[in-house]
Amino acid sequence: MARIGIFDSGVGGLSVFREIYRLLPGEDYVYLADNANCPYGEKSPEFIRERACEIASDMISRGVQVIVVACNTATSAAISYLRESFDIPFIGMEPAIKPAAHSTSTGVVGVLATKGTLNGTKYHDIKEQYGADVRIVESIGSGFVELVESGVVQGDAAESVVERSLRPLLDAGADVVVLGCTHYPFLLPVLQKIAGDGVRFINPAPAIAARLCDVMRSNGIALSGKTEGHREFIASGSAEVLDRMKW
Ligand code: DGL
Repeated sequence: MARIGIFDSGVGGLSVFREIYRLLPGEDYVYLADNANCPYGEKSPEFIRERACEIASDMISRGVQVIVVACNTATSAAISYLRESFDIPFIGMEPAIKPAAHSTSTGVVGVLATKGTLNGTKYHDIKEQYGADVRIVESIGSGFVELVESGVVQGDAAESVVERSLRPLLDAGADVVVLGCTHYPFLLPVLQKIAGDGVRFINPAPAIAARLCDVMRSNGIALSGKTEGHREFIASGSAEVLDRMKW
């Protein structure tokens, strides 16, 4: 029986959890939304590292055997530190520059992410490794996390916030846009409406779910074989939106 921990600064990590759950519905889960400290994108790496360690230690005391850091910003700030500090495997998020660079026709790849992720060395390393043959244009999804955390993912207000950050990428000719924050897939209908059919958005969540399966296998974490496991959802702040979005 596997017990899997997943955390994010809020409900964004549910975009990763739902892909994991699609593959592994029979396992037990603890999902933590650290929404008392959301957004992470504007916080210092030191603060995020400290929170990530507190969360990991709490989850391990609840018996989880593997933790998915379902947050690009926390992965960037804390994943190496978590791996050094704890004796269980951690899976982090990675902006999907590699598949984007392979599939662009215009040669321009857009990246939407938080300030914390775009400023991190992890992102710069990935960009150098996989983005050398394309032009990469970046934009901070200003206000995106706040929209999703307040449960507003469509309508005029959402469209005008999304348009502001997406427009520079479209104007630069991007035909593929990497969603570099786990909150952003919840805004996909609005993003797609503004960008039109000629632009493809890449959500790395399915690849992360597949990676979790590989890591569990290689670490000998056995699957339960049950049809449905237990899911626990915890919020460090208000549970209102998490309660609405969980399943
Ligand atoms: N969902 C997160 C990410 O993937 C964090 C967003 C935030 O709290 O700023 O980056």
